[in-house]
Amino acid sequence: MTVPPLNLAGLRCGHHANPLGISPDRIRFGWVLEGSGHDRRQCSYQLHVALSEDRLESGRELAWDTGRVESSRTVDVGYAGPALDRGTRYVWRVRAWDERDAVSAWSDTASFEIELDRVVGWHASWIGLGKVREQFAPPSGVRDPVVEALSPVPCLRREFVVDRPVASARLYVTALGIYETRLNGRRVGDSVLTPGWTDYARRIHYQTYDVTGLLRQGANVLGALVADGWYSGFYAFDAKRAGAHYGTFPELLAELVITSADGTRQRVVTDGSWRGQFGAVRYADLLMGEAHNLEAEPHGWERPGFDVTAWRAVRCRDRDGTPLIAEPGPPITVAEDITARTVTRDGSGRHIVDFGQNLTGWLRLAVDAAETATVTIRHAEVLAPDGGLYTENLRTARQTDTFLNVRGPLVLEPKFTIHGFRFAEISGYPGRLDRSSAVARVAHSAIAPTGSFESSQPWLNRLFANIDWGQRGNFISVPTDCPQRDERLGWLGDAQVFARTACYNRDVAAFLDKWLDDVADAQFPSGAYSDIAPRLHLEWAGAPAWADAGVIVPWTVYRMYGDRGCLERHYDAMTAWMEFIARDNPGYLRIHQVGNRYNDWLAPGEDDTSRELLATAYWAYDAAIMAEVSDAIGRPEPTARFRALRSKIAAAFADAFIRPDGRLASDTQTAYALGLHMGLVPPELEEAAAAHLVEAIARADWHVTTGFVGVGYLLPVLCAHGYTDVAYRLLEQPSAPSWRYMVDHDATTIWERWDGWTRERGFQSAAMNSFNHYALGSVGEWLYRFVLGIELAPGAAGFDRVMIRPYPGGQLTWAEGSYRSVRGPIVTSWRRDADVTTVRVELPPNVSGSVHIASGDAAAVRASGGRGPDRLGPFPGTAGLLEAVFDVGSGVHEFVGPTVGVNGLADVAADPGSAAR
Ligand code: BGC
Repeated sequence: MTVPPLNLAGLRCGHHANPLGISPDRIRFGWVLEGSGHDRRQCSYQLHVALSEDRLESGRELAWDTGRVESSRTVDVGYAGPALDRGTRYVWRVRAWDERDAVSAWSDTASFEIELDRVVGWHASWIGLGKVREQFAPPSGVRDPVVEALSPVPCLRREFVVDRPVASARLYVTALGIYETRLNGRRVGDSVLTPGWTDYARRIHYQTYDVTGLLRQGANVLGALVADGWYSGFYAFDAKRAGAHYGTFPELLAELVITSADGTRQRVVTDGSWRGQFGAVRYADLLMGEAHNLEAEPHGWERPGFDVTAWRAVRCRDRDGTPLIAEPGPPITVAEDITARTVTRDGSGRHIVDFGQNLTGWLRLAVDAAETATVTIRHAEVLAPDGGLYTENLRTARQTDTFLNVRGPLVLEPKFTIHGFRFAEISGYPGRLDRSSAVARVAHSAIAPTGSFESSQPWLNRLFANIDWGQRGNFISVPTDCPQRDERLGWLGDAQVFARTACYNRDVAAFLDKWLDDVADAQFPSGAYSDIAPRLHLEWAGAPAWADAGVIVPWTVYRMYGDRGCLERHYDAMTAWMEFIARDNPGYLRIHQVGNRYNDWLAPGEDDTSRELLATAYWAYDAAIMAEVSDAIGRPEPTARFRALRSKIAAAFADAFIRPDGRLASDTQTAYALGLHMGLVPPELEEAAAAHLVEAIARADWHVTTGFVGVGYLLPVLCAHGYTDVAYRLLEQPSAPSWRYMVDHDATTIWERWDGWTRERGFQSAAMNSFNHYALGSVGEWLYRFVLGIELAPGAAGFDRVMIRPYPGGQLTWAEGSYRSVRGPIVTSWRRDADVTTVRVELPPNVSGSVHIASGDAAAVRASGGRGPDRLGPFPGTAGLLEAVFDVGSGVHEFVGPTVGVNGLADVAADPGSAAR
């Protein structure tokens, strides 16, 4: 049977399909190989870059030809040709030779456009209407200082003439604030809340749109709305700060470049010739919500011929040297619309809508008002016991949208705000609201799903979905802690513990890449990473497990996506961080300069984990990672230096915190999870330390007692040290604190606190009780790596080599799932019947590794075709049990073996921990 050559698909440049703006240093190519059969590989590749499709096709006048490169690399291929021109479009394609030296067809063509020069590439000026405190009269008639602090959203416009046929046109645009642009009345692009959030004093991201199809010969109008957003609105937990974070009023910067068929260029830029006026949007704020007065809309303003004599002249300001950077992350878009699940109406005519899912976005509401109406929409995650919205946990955030002068058939929808909610209360709705009239628009950064998980336990499948929804609700330009209350900050600790789960769930390569620039911007001159990025006016820095994200997250991005560029970009900053810790901690215990005490944040009961232990463990972890990072980007001297540092910290850690019997100075689940996960327990004491961990769990009556810091490591550590049964018992624990308790009590996202709500006490303190915080969802990583067994081989990056080792257990009789890696989909499933366990694994071309199958009779495990194991080894998940190991390449592989002895046997389920002794 002849094997067809490989097919090359999924072309990526800098983690994007066809980026319209990319900085030259981020040009790294990637592709996915497709091909049936076993052991398919790429042995070499050739890549061409050209200025046009014609040149690419003819192979002449190429901008770059790699020639044939002997390499299996399909990701992270850095551009190494001559300098490329700014603002210019290039096309590229690639082909590959397989294991039999058969060459593939050229891939389809992909493109990328180089960003404009960050400073001198622009001709536009900033424009806005200044800070206007135009009193918005709230429908209640009561004076309201919050509303009084907000300003109406200006409409800005410029009319211009195009006098010849257009070949192509690009709109480069950004705002200090949030913009929405229109060309001849048509909305440009489909992204929302653009340009997203950065530290605007240090970097401003802009977007590029292909607007060729929106222009016409003759009169045209470029229009824009620009709202406060992160720049000058309310944000974070200090309600006084509206307008004090970055600036006091929003401004727009736009540059429309039209290339005519005859090659001439016309530029329309924001400058003093623009005119502006306030329209229907009377205020718009990320935390507070939005108010529209539909009567105030200057109808027709986005089209040519509109009379602007009464409009205001804009305030125009020259650009300073702040770099304007093509947005490296994905745009925020509306990912999904969800129709109301139930609608109820109370005695006073208010409707309560339940969307059945806690989410982030806003409502689109269809109305038909015979008489003028005022419609108000409030949003909440949960209901109070009286059936009304529970909004106390929003603190000062209002999440309220108001529409005045609603008349006739209309669709109401805000533009520049975002709410965290499952329920909405609608008052003033004319008539009776039916389900189809209320739609929840789910908005977040465009991070495509890459992971799937399903099992025999429906509640666990719901937990998986909740973890993903938690991510969707919080990956909005920045990975935030929560999307509803007056906070919504890029806390580094939360992102750090969740990063690996996030990477499995969704393609966050570009998203984290963008945020890591925010992290770098927020770093202090001392080298201390801040606890939050962007950090606004907050000076908090250096907190263990939070600031360490500056090292851990780039490393996670590298391991998951193979992105060395990310490591190189941040290497100096990471090194500065390591120097910062070392400077004041000469004894190799991290006891000085440890910043705020978050410790094992929100551990239930007393947080007894020693701060010094936790901090030192993270320092050792950082040092170990830095050694690997240095090695990955080819720096031998620091590799050795960080290895030596790590040994010294580990020795100091052992001296200070490990007793001769393997007990840790803090006898907490988190202390053991950290010590064991970070390899700080000497090998001869690991077994004892793991047993002490299990004792600590037993003392808590088989409940989790970790906060944010220990939670992600706990189950992996249990599985890695012979206690898969205990891991499953914690997972399946129905009483609080547990994941299952949340699911059983109607959670559709992950709660901030294990006891966010309990049957006995009701809600936790409203001062801090979000129902959409992803940190405790970092158990998701364990579902992929241990339940499904989709794991990187040691030292692997970007899933070039895998170690598929499922850990069946608990009540599960089967599980199946997948991870769409940068090298293609990896699919696993297993089924455990009374007698036989079946495992199925599917690997894409160019991915190889080993499959590990635990069995009481490992030698009897067979691959399809009858092939026996390549070797046997100890199975880490259950002490004393062996595993059959098969070396595999790409293709579909099936294995069958005796179930006997696999953890999760009936007696084990009755007495967790017993299997190991
Ligand atoms: C946030 C957390 C964050 C923490 C720091 C809280 O207010 O919501 O998620 O990590 O502060 O301890």
